[in-house]
Amino acid sequence: MSSVAGNIFGMKAVKNLRLEDIEWPKNMIKSFRGPQFGVEGVRRFMQVKKRPLLACVPKPKVGMTTKEHTKVGYDIWKGGVDFLKDDENLTDQKFNRFKDRVKSCFKYRDKAEKETGERKSYFINVTGETKEMLKRARMVKDHGGEFVMVDILTAGWAGFQTLREECQDLKLAIHAHRAFHASFTRDKKHGVSMLVVADLSRLIGADNLHIGTVIGKLVGSREEVLSLRDELEENFVHEGNHRLAENWQGMKKTFAVSSGGLHAGILPYIVNFLGKDIVVQVGGGIHGHPKGSYAGAKACRQALEAIEWGFSLKEYASQHKELKEALKKWGNTRPV
Ligand code: 6PG
Ligand code: MG
Repeated sequence: MSSVAGNIFGMKAVKNLRLEDIEWPKNMIKSFRGPQFGVEGVRRFMQVKKRPLLACVPKPKVGMTTKEHTKVGYDIWKGGVDFLKDDENLTDQKFNRFKDRVKSCFKYRDKAEKETGERKSYFINVTGETKEMLKRARMVKDHGGEFVMVDILTAGWAGFQTLREECQDLKLAIHAHRAFHASFTRDKKHGVSMLVVADLSRLIGADNLHIGTVIGKLVGSREEVLSLRDELEENFVHEGNHRLAENWQGMKKTFAVSSGGLHAGILPYIVNFLGKDIVVQVGGGIHGHPKGSYAGAKACRQALEAIEWGFSLKEYASQHKELKEALKKWGNTRPV
């Protein structure tokens, strides 16, 4: 990146410059590990064959004590969420220490698994100084976790790669958060595209990466979000508008994560648009349910069931009260 996106971007002689995509030579692709689990591996350990996976971040996203955070986790797991997720800003704050959170949440994760008979997991944010991240990843392993979450751009590529190496030994999957990307991806005339971030994430080995929603609260056009999905989940990527062809040489697929401003009423659109190999991440659209987080989680899971079995949400809601209440509150409104 020092070479292809280096000083050239700062030259006085250059007015605008935009790096849209990189076509990686075979030898270079082969020199990277790629995802350890990828779409298939994550589905295998979560024991979910086809439907989209469902994740949820507690709200308020930062500020809860460990106890409060754990309680939200337990409620949403019980309601049908697969993954509790930390916020990108929540790491090791004095009101919610990493080591307390890891202990407490995995205890309740085990309880929720027993009570529901489903696999449950946790994207716990290990972001920090590199050696500290490795320590946190080992703690996650010791407490029975399957995933670590990392803010790949603020941690930096090398830090992310070192974590990826450690996760190979620990057999942990990686949930990659893209916080910071919009500072250099958003200006269409200048900077580096999110597609390049997706390339590097798959190469280094993220098992999940946030790509946007089109209809949610974050910027990202339809074309861009689809392109990101393809770059992460296809083996052969076709050349397109602002995109180069790529042969990923059989490298595992990174799960696309769709997040930001979602709720049960618009999940059919997301699944229709992105397909089933996605992680749908919902925060306010779960906790804002009139009956609280547990009911909100149920409503989203019911929406995914309706989609899986080919019912309209309205039809399915006539038999499922949590979904009915969610639709009554939000309908299919989209954030502006
Ligand atoms: C992410 C975002 C985060 C986001 C919520 C989604 O992790 O996806 O960066 O900050 O806004 O996780 O929450 P809402 O569903 O409430 O938008
Ligand atoms: Mg590419």
